[in-house]
Amino acid sequence: MARQGSKGGSGGVASRRAFLKGGVAAGAAAGGALATGALGGSAMAQNADNMAPNVADWSRYLGEGVDARPYGTPSEFEAHVVRRNVEWLTASPESSVNFTPLHDLEGIITPNGLCFERHHGGIAEVDPADYQLMINGLVDKPMIFTLQDLMRFPRVNRIYFLECAANSGMEWRGAQLNGCQFTHGMVHCLMYTGVPLKLILEEAGLKPNAKWLMPEGGDSSGMNRSVPIEKGLDDCLVAFKMNGEALRPEQGYPVRLVVPGWEGNMWVKWLRRIEVGDEPWHTREETSKYTDLLEDGKARRFTWVMDVKSVVTNPSPQAPLLVKGHNIITGLAWSGRGTIDRVDVTLDGGNNWRTARIDGPVLPMSLTRFYVEFDWQGEDLLLQSRAIDSTGDIQPTKDELRAVRGTNSIYHNNGIQTWHVRSNGEVENVEVS
Ligand code: MTE
Ligand code: CO
Repeated sequence: MARQGSKGGSGGVASRRAFLKGGVAAGAAAGGALATGALGGSAMAQNADNMAPNVADWSRYLGEGVDARPYGTPSEFEAHVVRRNVEWLTASPESSVNFTPLHDLEGIITPNGLCFERHHGGIAEVDPADYQLMINGLVDKPMIFTLQDLMRFPRVNRIYFLECAANSGMEWRGAQLNGCQFTHGMVHCLMYTGVPLKLILEEAGLKPNAKWLMPEGGDSSGMNRSVPIEKGLDDCLVAFKMNGEALRPEQGYPVRLVVPGWEGNMWVKWLRRIEVGDEPWHTREETSKYTDLLEDGKARRFTWVMDVKSVVTNPSPQAPLLVKGHNIITGLAWSGRGTIDRVDVTLDGGNNWRTARIDGPVLPMSLTRFYVEFDWQGEDLLLQSRAIDSTGDIQPTKDELRAVRGTNSIYHNNGIQTWHVRSNGEVENVEVS
């Protein structure tokens, strides 16, 4: 088993480790983890005065009124649940990334304030009153739509994951970042409300030789990509809501393109223009970036689809095991090619596999949640998950992936992740071969 040290996530990991030590001590004092309820609930105890049979502080006084929180925010005890970045990764916060705290979340929907952010030129501040979407190129009538115009088209609601092609990109050459937030946190999954792009293109009228689309962002990076017309007419959305409310500025307020199952880079934010053409534009983002350099020096291009992938989110380096006995493994699986058919989990580095229990909606091109309940008596574990999608694609091991693609690449790493759980419950990012 090869292992490399961690470089990221120092703050979160350190505080959880301190917490772990405290938790074990409290459990022991109570005469064992199960003494005061299921699964050592006493492990988090800080103030015995609040605990049964005493009457807790919060039961003695009136609470805040309905005027205290016009826009709701999480409990102050959840202040550790935040997006985090990896400082050494990028030179400036305007062209950078932060990561979704996957280990702190449940179900399949990412809360709006916790979606990872990836910007190439910072967050554009767009006034919706001045917002316009222009359609030009190989169309019968070039058109300009205001936000009000867009909202008079028939709209649909769809749940999709967005994964950056560079997710897990730092792990190509070996285990590097200590936390699923950092190794896999460039993914989020939301319910979008938007207009099928097909309806907008039909309004402008496509010329017979219309074969490609070039969506362009209104941010200072003016991000643009070539999208084949078939995809644009199939399932792309011009979206203005996420989980029921307006897009957040970080996610492209007021309008972004949704390109289901395809790499996040194509989901242009602050969408200001779509040009229609008869061939691809070969923009920066599909030539020098977002191509996959192979061992022989050639690069794979136009690798749009995000392949089948999964990760155990708990336990993981930022979420250690706190008690012995009954425990729960959970994680996420997704595929840009369809639905998730099955997720297998191993506790011993791949010698034995068991089928995970999938719970919650199983939707195409969406995150899917899985669980394995198990008994842990402090033995070392090598945890892995392996997803299989509705096309029969099986998530590869990292070695299988490297045998085909080499190690030059940054993008499209969907290899199986391994977490080493130690006897004290701490978890580390490792590789097995
Ligand atoms: N669109 C514009 N206009 N500018 C950008 O920098 N970044 C792209 C894409 N769309 C980007 C953009 C990349 S690389 C990704 S992975 C996704 O947006 C990130 O979306 P998010 O910030 O909602 O997570
Ligand atoms: Co990206």
